[in-house]
Amino acid sequence: MIIRDETQADHGDIRSLNQAAFGGGYEAALVDRLRSEELVRASLVAVEGDVIVGHILFSALSVTMDGWTVRAAALAPLAVAPALQRRGIGSALVRSGLDSVTAQGFEAVFVLGHTAYYPRFGFSAAAASKLASHYAGDAFMALDLTPDALRGTVGTVTYPDAFEAD
Ligand SMILES: CC(C)(COP(=O)(O)OP(=O)(O)OC[C@H]1O[C@@H](n2cnc3c(N)ncnc32)[C@H](O)[C@@H]1OP(=O)(O)O)[C@@H](O)C(=O)NCCC(=O)NCCS
Repeated sequence: MIIRDETQADHGDIRSLNQAAFGGGYEAALVDRLRSEELVRASLVAVEGDVIVGHILFSALSVTMDGWTVRAAALAPLAVAPALQRRGIGSALVRSGLDSVTAQGFEAVFVLGHTAYYPRFGFSAAAASKLASHYAGDAFMALDLTPDALRGTVGTVTYPDAFEAD
């Protein structure tokens, strides 16, 4: 299995993978909307042979903390082919994706996801708790990529319209 950046030729397979993993069309459409709004900052695929078995996407996110802009990314979606889950593919994608956004200078990543899954990568609801968001709650988690990126008192996370369901 290798992990690489997506290419345009992968778009159809990525769409099918997201539909299969999530059992619906919201995430596949989200990927399309993020692309068309030029918000994608990392979109990686896991490939076995010539088959795409996993996908992760990071997009630009508007975050302020104590009036300052935090350079932040949203992790969404993350999908692994249903028959190949629990073999480490998702974890490998998360780690490669975090390396990519760190190398691009991002300071923090936010995710709305499984509370039993993302803490293993360092995400926590506590780190996101000072930030007001449409998605605030236990499943809304953050990870500092640079020390104390979210050290302020109060902040706001504003997801782009691309995240709104049709
Ligand atoms: C969530 C998902 C991306 C994980 O990918 P994966 O390749 O199966 O995960 P890994 O093999 O890297 O990690 C396996 C671990 O994740 C845990 N895990 C997998 N799916 C989980 C879930 N829905 N909730 C909590 N934990 C989960 C497993 O229990 C396992 O834990 P362990 O290491 O303690 O045994 C994958 O299951 C998937 O595509 N699910 C459907 C789509 C989805 O829910 N995406 C995430 C949205 S936030």
